[in-house]
Amino acid sequence: MIGPIKAKDLFLPAVDIWFKRWFVLTAGDMEKFNSMTVAWGSVGGMWEMPFVQVVVRPTRHTFSFMNESATFTLCSFPAKYRKDLAVIGSKSGRDGDKIALTKLTPMKSKAVATPCFREADLILECRKIYWQDLDDRNFLSARIAAQYPQMDYHRVFFGEILRIRGSREFRRK
Ligand SMILES: Cc1cc2nc3c(=O)[nH]c(=O)nc-3n(C[C@H](O)[C@H](O)[C@H](O)COP(=O)(O)O)c2cc1C
Repeated sequence: MIGPIKAKDLFLPAVDIWFKRWFVLTAGDMEKFNSMTVAWGSVGGMWEMPFVQVVVRPTRHTFSFMNESATFTLCSFPAKYRKDLAVIGSKSGRDGDKIALTKLTPMKSKAVATPCFREADLILECRKIYWQDLDDRNFLSARIAAQYPQMDYHRVFFGEILRIRGSREFRRK
């Protein structure tokens, strides 16, 4: 069961929810959208707004959706859907309907045109508020450049979180 959570009450493992659980990032609208798995990003506060930051390589099909869509959603899922997230994170929407290969069901969001997923246990509905391309001249650790043998530097997108729904584990006690 998921229910509305106020941003001030959102409680999540700040690092592990990305590295261990992952999210599905979706951009577009019910008619035309694309989703991909993301494991790099953050949830926090910026410009007096609750916000998320995601990074998308220009080679992803989702990239053009993120550029053209005013909104996006981030969905986290119980562990039993990990295989489905691996599919969404390895196949491209360019080559066919990868959602049909999973047990995930797109559904309408509450505050944005971009769909979310029925099976999610945390849904962040976001309005895009900022983007910027990573600049390799500013990489201060050799570990960063090593992530870009093709020099396909991520585009960073910030989204203002407009609505949160989640299970009780994501609500501060
Ligand atoms: C666990 C995991 C995490 C990922 N995180 C990111 C990420 O943060 N940014 C990114 O650009 N790609 C990431 N990817 C790769 C995309 O999800 C993958 O290339 C996907 O197939 C792109 O789909 P699309 O072409 O339909 O957009 C990740 C993949 C996996 C499996």
